[in-house]
Amino acid sequence: MVFSYKGGELYCEDVPVSKIADAVGTPFYLYSYSALIDGIKAYLRPLSRIGGIVCYAVKANSNLAVLRTLFREGAGADIVSGGELFRAVRAGVDVKKVVFAGVGKTEEEMAYALRMGILMFNVESVQELEVLDKVAQAEGKKAPVAVRVNPDVDPQTHPYISTGLKESKFGIDVDEALDVYMMASKMEGIEVVGIHCHIGSQITKLSPFVDAVDRVIELVDRLKDKGIGLKYMDIGGGIGIRYKDEEPPTPEQLIDAVADRVKSRGLTLIMEPGRSVVGNAGLFVTRVLYVKKKQNKTFYVVDGAMNDLARPALYNAYHEIVPVKERGGSVVADVVGPVCETGDFLAKGRELPEIERGDLLAVMSAGAYGFAMSSNYNSRPRVCEVLVKGDQFFVVRERERYEDLVRGESIPTFLLEV
Ligand code: LLP
Repeated sequence: MVFSYKGGELYCEDVPVSKIADAVGTPFYLYSYSALIDGIKAYLRPLSRIGGIVCYAVKANSNLAVLRTLFREGAGADIVSGGELFRAVRAGVDVKKVVFAGVGKTEEEMAYALRMGILMFNVESVQELEVLDKVAQAEGKKAPVAVRVNPDVDPQTHPYISTGLKESKFGIDVDEALDVYMMASKMEGIEVVGIHCHIGSQITKLSPFVDAVDRVIELVDRLKDKGIGLKYMDIGGGIGIRYKDEEPPTPEQLIDAVADRVKSRGLTLIMEPGRSVVGNAGLFVTRVLYVKKKQNKTFYVVDGAMNDLARPALYNAYHEIVPVKERGGSVVADVVGPVCETGDFLAKGRELPEIERGDLLAVMSAGAYGFAMSSNYNSRPRVCEVLVKGDQFFVVRERERYEDLVRGESIPTFLLEV
């Protein structure tokens, strides 16, 4: 385990977490290099056997050092904005392994991605296809396209992160996709190369993935009958991780379950994992400011908040919380931050040891959608990010300063008059 206790102290690899806290202050995100490597290799190993491609979902954790770690092992990138493409390029991605999803790509973003020469655009609507055709022609290029189809399967996960149902804003319904492909195949600026689906996130069962692939394969066969042959089948991301006691399938199990079907159609399998690569490679470290007792309730007020780690407030998500120095006793407490919102909590009614002011707490499984979703709400500078490799640690993003909070803002001159 990359995060484990030695002599009553929590370590990340060979570095005591408290040593990092002393050096960089709190709160901060902490990532383990070796856990990132293990996370991406769990996909690269089985996929390389069948010539597949891993496009890491940059949105889960877009820190340059994290991206660089994954790209250096051979991962590509799944991006959803020009900003993510910029980051991926900065981190040295192989652009031939970049796929671009999202329901609202702008013309500027399309042109940028075309100039960079990405692998394909995962197109989500007819109008988007028409605009991409136009932009590509203006650039003197053909845009490689996969249609994102919506297989209408229930991923049995949190409704906010389930995307493959008919009523969702994502993708094109499977029944309508054939017509869209016919249309695309006649467009001057479009080259049809693949098919894409992504049904949701934090999925802990194999069957929704397999059902989705089956539905998409049916369409692949129908397309072939119409003379439309494809190269790539991108099945998205979505494999869950263990936050508490979940038992998600491994990447290898999923790949084994679908590989034959995909290969027998001569397709290259693409996967876009995010959470399952980085989620358990990171934690969020926060310090207890106050122990507040109210009637018969205990609050541990910590210096980290919903603006730093939004998942508990946003999805009522469970993140395990452990003390950085082992403590005895048992208290049922709410772990809350300083932000002025009732929803600002990291845990509610949680059984925790007796903790004192000044103690450090580690919020586990925070490597995915942690820092990436953080904000400056309540004018809180965003925290720093640290990468540990063996017995060394590196600050891979500085803590913001107050000056950073107002960067780019200005007061119009008329307001300066008194
Ligand atoms: N591909 C597409 C098209 C996606 O929309 C997503 C995630 C992924 C891949 C990566 O999915 P993953 O392997 O990470 O499950 N903020 C939420 C999760 C939102 C997921 C959005 N899309 C959370 O904190 O749970």
